[in-house]
Formats: sequence, C-alpha cells, structure tokens
Amino acid sequence: MSITAPGKSINAIYSQETDFLPLQGTDYVEFYVGNAKQAAHFYKTAFGFQSLAYAGPETGVKDRASYAIRQNKLTFVLTTPLRTDNILADHIYKHGDGIKIIALKVDDATDAWQQTTSRGGKSYLPPITLTDESGDLIMSGIHTYGETVHLFIERKNYKGVFLPGYREWKSDYNPESTGLQYVDHCVGNVGWNQMNTWVKFYEEVMGFRNILSFDDADISTEYSALMSKVMSNGNGFVKFPINEPAEGKKKSQVEEYLDFYNGEGCQHVALATNNILETVTALQKRGVEFLKIPSSYYDDLLQRVGHIDEDLAPLSELGILVDKDEEGYLLQIFSKPMEDRPTLFFEIIQRKGARSFGKGNFKALFEAIEREQEMRGNL
Ligand code: FE2
Repeated sequence: MSITAPGKSINAIYSQETDFLPLQGTDYVEFYVGNAKQAAHFYKTAFGFQSLAYAGPETGVKDRASYAIRQNKLTFVLTTPLRTDNILADHIYKHGDGIKIIALKVDDATDAWQQTTSRGGKSYLPPITLTDESGDLIMSGIHTYGETVHLFIERKNYKGVFLPGYREWKSDYNPESTGLQYVDHCVGNVGWNQMNTWVKFYEEVMGFRNILSFDDADISTEYSALMSKVMSNGNGFVKFPINEPAEGKKKSQVEEYLDFYNGEGCQHVALATNNILETVTALQKRGVEFLKIPSSYYDDLLQRVGHIDEDLAPLSELGILVDKDEEGYLLQIFSKPMEDRPTLFFEIIQRKGARSFGKGNFKALFEAIEREQEMRGNL
C-alpha cells in the first residue's frame, strides 16, 4: 500500500486554483431496475429512506417511471422502463438491476462538461437547462467505466424538490431513518488490465488524484486476488476506488461481478453513518443481510487497532469490522448483494478520524466473500 503525502489533507496538496472540476459531493445515485415501484418500497422499508419525488406518465414522462427517495444527504433514484423498445430495458437485460448514474453536485455544469470533454471525456449529455415553476436546473454528463455515467448537476437556480419533470411524492408510509447520512465512496469494478486506463481517466479528465493503492500482495487470499486504487477529487468529497481482478488460484470476486454484470460497473456504494451500531442493528431488523465474519476476527482486534470507543460484544454480534490508519479508525460492514445476481452491494461505514478504506479487513472480508462465492458455485 502507498499513501500520497501521509498525514496531509488532500486539500492542502491540491489547492482550489488547480481544481478544474470543483465538486460539492454526490448529488444522487440512480439505479436502473426491473421494477422501480417495488425497489423504492424496498429501500424505504429496509434502509429507512423517505419518499421524495416521482416522474412518470402522470408527470409527462412517457417511457419510464422514476422514484426519488432520500435519507439525510443521501438521494437514490429508482428508474424502470415502461416498454421493451427502450435503452433502459436493454440496460437491465444486459446488467440486471444496477447503478447507471453517479450524479455529482457542481457550481457550473456547463463548465464541468467543457473541462472534462476537452480533456478527452466522452460526452453523455451536453449541457441542458431544465425548467419548471421552481426555476432552472442545468445538467450535463460524461461516460465512465462500462455503461456507467457521471452527471454534473447545477441546482443553484433551482428550488424544486428534486429535478424538473418530477413532482413531490408524498406518502403515508414513511419508515423511520436508519441513520444513513451520505455517500462516502463508490467503487467501480473494471476489466483485466483496465485499471490504469481508468486511473488515467479520473486523473486527466476529472482532475482526481490517486491517494491509495493496493496490489495483490496486500489483498490476495488463498484463492482470489484483486488490485485497487483509490481516486479522490481535490477537496476529498468524492472518492472512487477502482478494482481490477488479479490472477489467483480461482475466480476472484471482481471476475464474478464482471461475469454477472456483463461488464464493468459499480460494485459497491459506501453509506456513512454517525452510529454504526444503531444503523446496522436497525438494518438487520429490517432484513438487510450482511456478510458474516468468524468470531475469531475479534480475538486479537484490540491488539491490532488499539483503543476504540465501542464495546467489542455488540461489534462481534453484528459482524462490524474495525481498521485503523495514521489518523484514527473506522468501522465498516458489507451487505450481501442487493440483487439475485452477485453484483451490487452496500458498505456501511463510520469514520472516527481514519480516511482510509479498511485494508486491514480485506483478508477477513474476502474470505467471507469467497465462502459466499463457493455457495453460488462461482469460485
Ligand atoms: Fe468500500
């Protein structure tokens, strides 16, 4: 593992003047799914999102239905095609349910598109102004790995509930929040020998920096291996780790993903919480399934990470992992895939100073994933 300028904030080594793509964070994450109505219900029920906005035939959108849901600063959109002859339907046929759009908040969506496309980014959507009675919203976008897209969202002249074309979605069914706060990072799985292509893309097209690297020596288990590089934007609000499979004795988890997603795509989204014990307790009660870690993981945990504020017993009971770096520690846990295909899953993360990604947990975690892969016959 290598850390660029350890101990220094990314901001300090990468000043605002040099940041040609200033990002204010993740605006929303949009999933293309087979049944958006049911998916929205699932995320409300299991994860504690609230209804926010709806677009579909009733709002003048003829080819799809979209449900926007929100929890604190976290916004998900579930979108489904209404007919077969539709690019969304092709996307779902090929990939199953998955993440299509990682939308980023910007001050100037026109400039974001010009800056990125002039540096070699492939345009997905030239800047357009969407207008309704709540104002103007400017949106643009570029392609990234696989069929995944980054949209740039400029909402400084827009006061509406979500996006023009949507209407407020009020519901009598509003399950309590589970304490999820915002997107900490989104991880992309890319194909063999594609890591450096995408590292270069985030560096050159989007002005990101590679802040951490893991190679197969860091994270190979008996069977599977992968390489990972963490890309961060200038202010550190947006972090995109990228995984590539590496040669192992058997099929790695990244290869399994690439097989079942039919190509590159978003592997997991890490959702931040301020109290992981409460959040994971609530999620488990509502049926979210997490990877199980053997209890032996906790035997020498405190020797590895030093003092932590949390009691060991509930961490062990819930299967929450702990890792530390120079700046503090973090607590994390990984869900099982959200679909029948072994593709997208979620991470729940609470940072207590640490800005890393849980390298110390990779071995325990990957062994847990391999046990699941073996049960699916994909190891
Ligand atoms: Fe992660």
